[in-house]
Amino acid sequence: MEKSFRLNNGLEIPSVGFGTWQTPDGDTAVKAVKCALADGYRHIDAAAVYANEASVGKGIAESGIPRQKIWVTSKVWNTDRGYDSTLRAFERTSKDLGLDCLDLYLVHWPASPSRFPNWKEINSDTWRAMERLVREGRVRSIGVSNFLPHHLDALLLNAEIAPAVDQIEYHPGFMQPGTVRYCKEHGIQVEAWSPLGTGRMLDNATLRLIAGKYGKSVAQICIRWALQHGVLPLPKSVTPSRIRENIQVFDFIISEEDMAAIDAMEYCGGSGLDPDKIDF
Ligand code: A2P
Repeated sequence: MEKSFRLNNGLEIPSVGFGTWQTPDGDTAVKAVKCALADGYRHIDAAAVYANEASVGKGIAESGIPRQKIWVTSKVWNTDRGYDSTLRAFERTSKDLGLDCLDLYLVHWPASPSRFPNWKEINSDTWRAMERLVREGRVRSIGVSNFLPHHLDALLLNAEIAPAVDQIEYHPGFMQPGTVRYCKEHGIQVEAWSPLGTGRMLDNATLRLIAGKYGKSVAQICIRWALQHGVLPLPKSVTPSRIRENIQVFDFIISEEDMAAIDAMEYCGGSGLDPDKIDF
């Protein structure tokens, strides 16, 4: 298993990222990020709406690791969709993180037909701003998050730069096969948010049985399973022992039989957040 994936723009992205959703702002976030970087993570996944970007940026700055060795992602929030507001949102995020340039900037959620009659136009306007940020050298890659095939179809019609990434909810029990297939066919790297089902998968009997066979934790099985599917997991933790555990996933291989057993799991552990129905 490679330690990075190659994106459609030729850039190499470290194959396990450190999630910061629900990480409390302040000292906890600073320490978690520093701990992750000390343990070997070279990829930090942030977002404006997580309301902790200044602390995440402080953790990066205090880590002592040269900026260019760390992949940093952030996301434009839903209330900032549109051309001008996306550009303004980027400036705020850039200032909060203390970084002039980001490695990846994502549209956090698509505007959807159920709430916005002009959803295609909103997403395209947002995307034009994202493309401008690439041209101006403020971001190295752009992508989307929570986009389903119909959102991507509409976006690709007018896009000058194809999304490099789609970050979606993905974990055992919730594989989103249609979206993953679409992304593979279009050269879009899938990233997994909540690769542990925000902790909901940790007591799952099937996963516990398989984890026991390998002498690994359920969290490590979830992370490794995503990697073996070519999906980039973004586990979140504020607990030093778990942070370390979650990147120790390169010394074992889940057999084809066990991969298939995990793939066959019934729907479970999903957040229930449907990009076409969310009301935020
Ligand atoms: P904590 O941050 O308190 O350590 P996800 O990445 O799917 O969103 O899951 C994050 C949740 O899973 C958090 O509640 C986190 O707790 C917990 N978690 C993360 N890694 C592990 C682990 N290796 N073992 C047990 N729980 C974990």
